Amino acid sequence: MTKTIAFANIKGGTGKTTTCVNIAGYLVKRGDKSQVLVVDFDPQANATSGLGIDATTLEYSIYDAVLDQCEAYQGVPVTQCILETDVENLHLLPSELNLSAITMVLQQTEDRVSILNRILEPVRQYYDYILIDVPSDAGLFLLNSLWAADQVIVPLDSSVFALEALENLNTYCDDIEQMRGHQLKPLTIVLNRYSKSSSSSQKKRQPSPSEEIESALQEQSYTVFAVPESLLVYRSQQAGLPVSHLTKTTGNLGKAYEAIAKSLATSK
Ligand SMILES: Nc1ncnc2c1ncn2[C@@H]1O[C@H](COP(=O)(O)OP(=O)(O)OP(=O)(O)O)[C@@H](O)[C@H]1O
Ligand SMILES: [Mg+2]
Repeated sequence: MTKTIAFANIKGGTGKTTTCVNIAGYLVKRGDKSQVLVVDFDPQANATSGLGIDATTLEYSIYDAVLDQCEAYQGVPVTQCILETDVENLHLLPSELNLSAITMVLQQTEDRVSILNRILEPVRQYYDYILIDVPSDAGLFLLNSLWAADQVIVPLDSSVFALEALENLNTYCDDIEQMRGHQLKPLTIVLNRYSKSSSSSQKKRQPSPSEEIESALQEQSYTVFAVPESLLVYRSQQAGLPVSHLTKTTGNLGKAYEAIAKSLATSK
């Protein structure tokens, strides 16, 4: 059965795209011949460039696949929009800047919250995992992504506003769970750019913001994964490859993504 996972947070710049692309890399690297599709649902097209594809030269993108679902517009079937990447068994439904104009089209369309789900229906059978990179959006992009997903991974930064953003996302998930009648929660948290307190003296040691937020989340019974800050993220984006396929020495960053991929692969 295909697992469809949305990487979502209403707050921007928390690591949604980075987490999505790198978990995709480690899912295909597991050696169980999993087929993975990354769906770039963000007009910024960062997952597209992160997988080495130039969004300005695309013949078709998710924009065309969305139009294909909307009466009165001429689109292109999703199968024609999906591309292979340089990573074996990792495919991409790419995005482009035009996608930002799609909200107007979506608003005029019936069943506007289930469009992404309808786009993915014919291709689900080919993939073990579909990972959706969701923009920092509190509108139809987010609702469509949650409707299409059966799990949600929330990359969080260690900021004061992180828990507020999580609470807001939970409200959206509640609404979609009620509307669609399928379970999205509990959400899985990735505390991105996690850092421990640097003080060496145990007595004086104050928890770092990452540690404080981690404790708060654990108290609320969330599953929390920690991903450290690493220059390899930058290098892999430069190369248009996930970290898993960039170099053999991926250190703690690679271990962190690998652990998340393993937990996705072994959970029901
Ligand atoms: N673990 C990390 N180590 C170092 N840099 C990171 C890490 N995670 C993310 N970054 C950097 O932080 C920035 C934001 O990450 P990213 O684009 O993945 O966030 P996002 O949530 O997808 O943003 P947006 O809301 O714009 O879609 C990027 O420049 C990325 O390279
Ligand atoms: Mg992003």
